[in-house]
Formats: sequence, structure tokens, C-alpha cells
Amino acid sequence: MAITETQPKSDQSVTTDTNKTITLRIARFNPKHDLASAFNEYEIPVQKWTTVLETILYVKQNLDYSVAVRYSCRQASCGSCGMRINGYPRLACYTKISELNSDVITVEPMFNFPVMRDLVTDFTQMFSTHKRMKPYVINEESELVSGKKEFLQTPQDVEKYLQFSYCIKCGLCNSGCPTMATDKSFIGPQGLGQAYRYVADSRDKGKNERLKEVDESHGIWRCHFAGTCSHVCPKGVDPAMAIQLLRGYLLGFGR
Ligand code: SF4
Ligand code: FES
Repeated sequence: MAITETQPKSDQSVTTDTNKTITLRIARFNPKHDLASAFNEYEIPVQKWTTVLETILYVKQNLDYSVAVRYSCRQASCGSCGMRINGYPRLACYTKISELNSDVITVEPMFNFPVMRDLVTDFTQMFSTHKRMKPYVINEESELVSGKKEFLQTPQDVEKYLQFSYCIKCGLCNSGCPTMATDKSFIGPQGLGQAYRYVADSRDKGKNERLKEVDESHGIWRCHFAGTCSHVCPKGVDPAMAIQLLRGYLLGFGR
């Protein structure tokens, strides 16, 4: 997941056999010497399947290689390319120009993260919070650790946490969260969703450790259920529901 500052290879161009062009507005900002971001505008040829990421890479290849953008998989798997696209938190590789219904596309860095440069935000705090939630199965039972015994689960056991395991750590939920906008220390929907994912796992014995971690002043009770996190998630994860279910465990109603 490197920040790309070099000129991309030639296969990263947008196919140009179409007359349609859009105006791409890219927010430019370097915290080392800029006080505020400014927009650069570019005219980009597109086809109906062209993604927002491809238009940014077109700029880097043909017009201005200095634009900073982070991406890797180009298939909504790595979680690198989150940004605001016409004001809405989205994955650039997973958003087609044709679905935006606009000939002017504005791309800006995600809200609620420090900007490293242009479209690239700093995930240090999110990953550190994620780590604090102990995102792994905790179970010291010796026969399981040694591999002599299997972790058996029923389909119903798996159903309890499955959708939450689809999180790709893209940060879009934290970017859309109004509580994160006012409390930079809030655990956030990404971390809380992952805490629930493991608390709900029948193989796990770390429930009490995680519940203690989320039950603090910048923790689970700060959520006021705006629900934006679930609305913007590109993987169908429902962090708002996870937060409510996790509260259930804290109140003694956990399943
Ligand atoms: S819950 Fe969804 S929006 Fe939030 S980090 Fe995971 S995949 Fe991204
Ligand atoms: S480049 Fe991996 S999610 Fe977009």
C-alpha cells in the first residue's frame, strides 16, 4: 500500500475511443507548505466503465505525475483508495464515472483522517485502534493451539460474525462518522465493528478483554447512531448494527 509518486506504467491509461470527456477536479494539498487545499482541473476522456481511479491515473500518466494517490488491488479488496468523490466517501477503484451522473467529478481526501498529501490520508490511528481491539481469535486451549483439535462451528455460529469479517479496513465508515468529526479519540465504527466481529465468534475467549476496551469515555457510548458508517461501507458491513449488538453484551443481553 505505497503512496504513488512516480509515473505509472503505460497500461494505466484510459481508453480514449469515445467523445465523452469529464472535468476531474483534484484537491491538492501538501501539509509541509500549504495552508489549505486548492483544486486542479483536468479534462479526461472516459468510457462507461472508466473508474474514478483510472481517471486519476490518467492524470498522473499524461498531465501531472505529481498527484499523490494511494491504491493497490484495483478491485475493492485492499482498502487503499478511499476518498471523497463528489462529496461522498467511496473507493475510487470501485466507483465508475458513469454511475455518478455528472460531467464534473471532484475528488478530495477522506474526512476525519490527517492528510499526508493530496488524496492520501494517514491511517496510523485507525490501525492502532484496530490493533487495540485484538482482531484475532483468542483461545489458549492447548489442543486447539497445538492443532490436535479443530475449531468446530455450526453455520449459525458463523452467521453471527460473517458479514463483519468482510471489512477491508478502508476507513470509509470512520470518514463518514459525525462522532469521529468531533472526537478524534473516538474508537470509531471500524474498530467497534471489528471488536464485535471477534466477540461474536464462538471460538473466541477474549470477550471480556474487548468489552473492557470499548467501554471507555471515547468508546462505544459516544456513538449516537447516525448510521452513516453502514450507509457508506463498500463491502456491506453494518458497523452501526455491530455497535448496538456490542452494547447488548455490555448490558448483559449478549447472545
Ligand atoms: S466497515 Fe466497511 S467502511 Fe468500515 S473500514 Fe470496514 S470495509 Fe471499510
Ligand atoms: S485499490 Fe484496493 S480497494 Fe481500491
